[in-house]
Amino acid sequence: MSAPTLQVNNLTVSIGGKELLHNISFSLEPGERLGFIGGSGSGKTLTAHAVAGLLPEEAVVTGSITLGDVQLVGLEDREFAALRGEQIGMVFQEPKTALNPLHRLGRQMTEALAIHYSLTRAQRREAALRLATRVGLSEPERMIRAYPHEVSGGQRQRAAIAAAISADPGLLFADEPTTALDVTVQQGVLRLFCDLTEGDSTSLVFITHDLAVMAEVAERVLVFHQGRIVESGPVQQIIHSPSHPISKALIDAAGGDA
Ligand SMILES: Nc1ncnc2c1ncn2[C@@H]1O[C@H](COP(=O)(O)OP(=O)(O)OP(=O)(O)O)[C@@H](O)[C@H]1O
Ligand SMILES: [Mg+2]
Repeated sequence: MSAPTLQVNNLTVSIGGKELLHNISFSLEPGERLGFIGGSGSGKTLTAHAVAGLLPEEAVVTGSITLGDVQLVGLEDREFAALRGEQIGMVFQEPKTALNPLHRLGRQMTEALAIHYSLTRAQRREAALRLATRVGLSEPERMIRAYPHEVSGGQRQRAAIAAAISADPGLLFADEPTTALDVTVQQGVLRLFCDLTEGDSTSLVFITHDLAVMAEVAERVLVFHQGRIVESGPVQQIIHSPSHPISKALIDAAGGDA
């Protein structure tokens, strides 16, 4: 089944009377891997959170966000909660905060599945093993029984990714998912994101400051600055011939090593 198209039109978000996102518009085709780049505070995470229904309650949102036929602006919390996991998966920078230290990894990897389907203990264990294998965790038997502190940072991030994809969401957000990992571990996790989004059944929004990482994962890039998208285009074009001064500054700041 192909992923639903995400269409964001004139999205504006204000919090505490301050407009933080201004007229954000973009779309994401089924199976596409889209990158968000931009300086700190430019609105990347806020945009992802607006789509995933994770904005604070006092946020005022205008414009339109559609995922397939569903309008997400104005959805109730519980409707969003149902979409997250099932249709929208999220992976964050620090797997330690995404994972509960008191629960075994297998239980956490299958949380979304267990909410959406009623699984027997044996089915849930089987699903955990399958997911652990899918995200490249070696020794899956040990991994699903381990607590977060008993595994490495890279393994924790793989477990967090397994949790995000367990119910096969069509849309996956990854917000700086490899920043907390060392470089060699990063490579494996980046390859995993690419593998998981092969074909057109899962689309990816990938947020990173690191242009080399961006070049590896994203096909197309949006450049954020002060709550606006200032440029968009194929990743190689943005890296090698950026047209907006902000994109140029970002590339220069990265040392042109992408
Ligand atoms: N809950 C909130 N309440 C008030 N302001 C917020 C809230 N969340 C984000 N902001 C503000 O919105 C702006 C955009 O923040 P956002 O988190 O999207 O930045 P970002 O591009 O993800 O930056 P970084 O690269 O540092 O993660 C910032 O000025 C931030 O301070
Ligand atoms: Mg952010």
